[in-house]
Amino acid sequence: MATEKSHGHNSFKHLLSPIKIGPIEVKNRIALAPMNETMSDGHGQVTEQLLSYYAARAKGGTGLVITGAVMGTKLGSQFVWGRNMHCFNDGHGQGMTLLSDRIHYFGAKACIQLSVGFGRQGHTYEEDVLVPAASANVPYEITADRMMKNMPKAMAGSERGRQWLIGPMTRELTISEIHHEQKEFANSAQLAVICGFDAIEIHAPHGYLEHQFLSPLTNRRTDYYGGPWRNRKRFLNEVMEQVRYACPGVAVGVRISAEEHVEGGLTREEMIDLAQDLEARGADYISLSDGGGYEELTHLIPTKEIAQHFPETGADFKAVLKIPVMIPSQHDAVKADQDIAAGKFDVSALGRQLLCDPEYANKLAAGRQEDIDKCARCNTCILRALARTSMACPNNPWLGREYADPSLMLGPFQKHEHLIPPGWEAGLPALDRPWWHSEIPMARQHFRPFRGPGAEPKLGMLGPTKNLGSGPTQSLTQVLGKCEETD
Ligand SMILES: Cc1cc2nc3c(=O)[nH]c(=O)nc-3n(C[C@H](O)[C@H](O)[C@H](O)COP(=O)(O)O)c2cc1C
Ligand code: SF4
Repeated sequence: MATEKSHGHNSFKHLLSPIKIGPIEVKNRIALAPMNETMSDGHGQVTEQLLSYYAARAKGGTGLVITGAVMGTKLGSQFVWGRNMHCFNDGHGQGMTLLSDRIHYFGAKACIQLSVGFGRQGHTYEEDVLVPAASANVPYEITADRMMKNMPKAMAGSERGRQWLIGPMTRELTISEIHHEQKEFANSAQLAVICGFDAIEIHAPHGYLEHQFLSPLTNRRTDYYGGPWRNRKRFLNEVMEQVRYACPGVAVGVRISAEEHVEGGLTREEMIDLAQDLEARGADYISLSDGGGYEELTHLIPTKEIAQHFPETGADFKAVLKIPVMIPSQHDAVKADQDIAAGKFDVSALGRQLLCDPEYANKLAAGRQEDIDKCARCNTCILRALARTSMACPNNPWLGREYADPSLMLGPFQKHEHLIPPGWEAGLPALDRPWWHSEIPMARQHFRPFRGPGAEPKLGMLGPTKNLGSGPTQSLTQVLGKCEETD
């Protein structure tokens, strides 16, 4: 189907049309793909630069702003490369709220990509510490033939870069640790809802911890989290169930690799089967990326040629799913509009193209697509991030300096912003699922009920869990009545 034209220019009718994702409505089909922006501080807290960076993409008309991978557990946060944001204790609440507020202020929906851990792709500076992973003794090694464009030269010239090419030795997470991590992760997802995020994206692609459980290449367990496909899916399926339970009223999506592209690795058919499992457990969307992870970077950060398969891949998933499917790297808006019209995918998640030109969506809407600054896929941005500095781009001198643009600052609350966190109007569920305390001795020991004998009544925990739906958010004045002066 040809892209429809109006007033002599492409109207991008399909790309710019709104879409319902679970309980939320997003104003167009353009999402900021999750990218670890490496702009948080050394403790995973937001910085003014980080807030302004996301603000620029929201102000540029992007419908759904997805954060880079945010660490959702304390253990996971200790084994990364460089810096990621943190969201796993109340100390992170202020920064997370500032971030969702900043995104909302500029008119986008805010989605947090939460990671349960890097597993074997994590790093530690302590030589004698083994990295917690799905299985023991599975360090990674990146070879030049599987690197992204322009990476081999950069890595050859830098000692720091070379440190990244070989991963540390790993140790197997115990079952007790697995359950602890899952519980903490669900709590963190709920914290993100309280901090105002409209959507949670479970981070499970690219060879990170959830992916390591799935893949026969990295999961060598002999318990019920390893072995047959059914067992290898268990970890992620349980995470999905728990986050869905913990976070009614917001969209919950999952990002997965469409396949591994490594011999003996996960196939497209297996990943489609997994996507169906996730849908059955309440996922509101599937976001596709690709590749086995650090050992297969050409599909993670694709060239234009490699990225061409995504619409057809999206169509394979859409053929069996009812929920929206998001695909990355479709920088050509005319083609993306046509492919959405043809039903191949639903949402275009743009990474580097929105680094290069945050005004992409606004320019399309204004009929100024010829003014879009095109991403050259040169990978300077990601090489800077890997060098642990914040990103920069030869085609966008503002990338990494957004904090110096006063138009990206936050002003007073606007009418369209939530005052009460979306999940809180009807109460979020108390996270007291029976198996958490019956199966995990550690959790049982420390378990403190929110309700029932021995529990203090808590604001917000007002009754049985309900599906909160997507009703309009009430303002404080509507809920509490207008404040009158008392003296
Ligand atoms: C600097 C950088 C950081 C990234 N970090 C993440 C991440 O945190 N989580 C994730 O799922 N994908 C991450 N990606 C992959 C992107 O989301 C996206 O799938 C990829 O860049 C291809 O899309 P593009 O061609 O539009 O950039 C990252 C990519 C870049 C360039
Ligand atoms: S540095 Fe700029 S042009 Fe190069 S890949 Fe990144 S966003 Fe694109």
